[in-house]
Amino acid sequence: MDPKRVHPDTVAAQALGWIDEATRAVTPPLHLSSTYLRDPDNQYRSGRVYARADNPAFDQPEAVINALEGGHEALLFASGMAAATACFLALAPGDHVLAPKVMYWSLRHWLTGFAATWGLQVELIDMPDPAALRAALRPGRTKLVWVETPANPLWTITDIADAAAAARAAGALLAVDSTVATPVLSRPLALGADFVMHAATKYLNGHSDLVAGVLVTRADSEHWQRVRKLRAQLGGTLGSFEAWLLLRGLRTLPLRVRAACSNAERVARHFEHHPLVREVLYPGLPGAPGHEVAKRQMHGGFGGMLSIRVDGGDAVAIAVAAHTRIWKRATSLGGTESLIEHRASVEGAGSPVPPDLLRLSAGVEHADDLVADLEQALARASA
Ligand SMILES: Cc1ncc(COP(=O)(O)O)c(C=O)c1O
Repeated sequence: MDPKRVHPDTVAAQALGWIDEATRAVTPPLHLSSTYLRDPDNQYRSGRVYARADNPAFDQPEAVINALEGGHEALLFASGMAAATACFLALAPGDHVLAPKVMYWSLRHWLTGFAATWGLQVELIDMPDPAALRAALRPGRTKLVWVETPANPLWTITDIADAAAAARAAGALLAVDSTVATPVLSRPLALGADFVMHAATKYLNGHSDLVAGVLVTRADSEHWQRVRKLRAQLGGTLGSFEAWLLLRGLRTLPLRVRAACSNAERVARHFEHHPLVREVLYPGLPGAPGHEVAKRQMHGGFGGMLSIRVDGGDAVAIAVAAHTRIWKRATSLGGTESLIEHRASVEGAGSPVPPDLLRLSAGVEHADDLVADLEQALARASA
């Protein structure tokens, strides 16, 4: 199947139209071997040596994700964190990098902790502000700009095309954590980004039953070859079964993302002017700060993630999460089931997250049930 001639829904549903030539099976077998035979003349013409470096189980999910992102190549990793950190570790100590103040907290911790100790000069900035990015870029010294959009858990929006142009002018690469947008809504490489990263744990797989990550590159480069080597050397390699499950999840990605977007939008609009809610954070709301940029770079929806700030501070927020019955009180996002989380309890001191904030991952249930469940939980927590 030529992914340029069919719609992304078709690419995903048929996993690029793959069939097993030997058996005519329409889904791939589960490849479990950890090692591969050498040829009689001592060569490895199959290109496969050992499953820490490479695995046939990766071929199809990597090809599908690469096609959906319009990239040159995709590499699967054992987690989103393994993918993201490989992108930074492919730099050299002393390199200057820029990342957002509002971003996935565990990566922010790693950047300000391990990466800074290792020697990266990490600067956290107000990434959605184009002037802040331009002021922080040091031409020739800044090697990588990391963008997350929409960004956890305030769902701030960064203009990818503008950030890519600014980074390029300063000689820096631009990487986008597009976990929340998914390739269904946004294609950062087409907007000028050099790399796209996903916690495939989330929407790409979509069923809360594996941990995985992926990096996609727009072009081959020395940086990319170092990323590839790091995967094999550090061993942040995905397991075969997880790769197989991921391919299965990918087939319904567009359907799930559209359903989650529609539910998130319904919840956001319902609670926007609710008497027990101080604020709804969702880029799909016309008054949201990043709405106009989101409209330009997200197509078909604004994502399944939103946050609400409740009246009454952290005690009420924690009580709301305790009283929901359909929204599951758990971390993570992007599964078929809706999740609710008091985010400040997770991120702890130093986080930019307000204490009254609840992060919501809208699943694919019926919107009426999601709204009614939040209504009763808010009423009970505020009584
Ligand atoms: C936006 C975002 N990026 C990266 C990650 C890290 O992914 P993983 O948990 O698969 O390591 C997460 C996980 O929650 C995330 O939400």
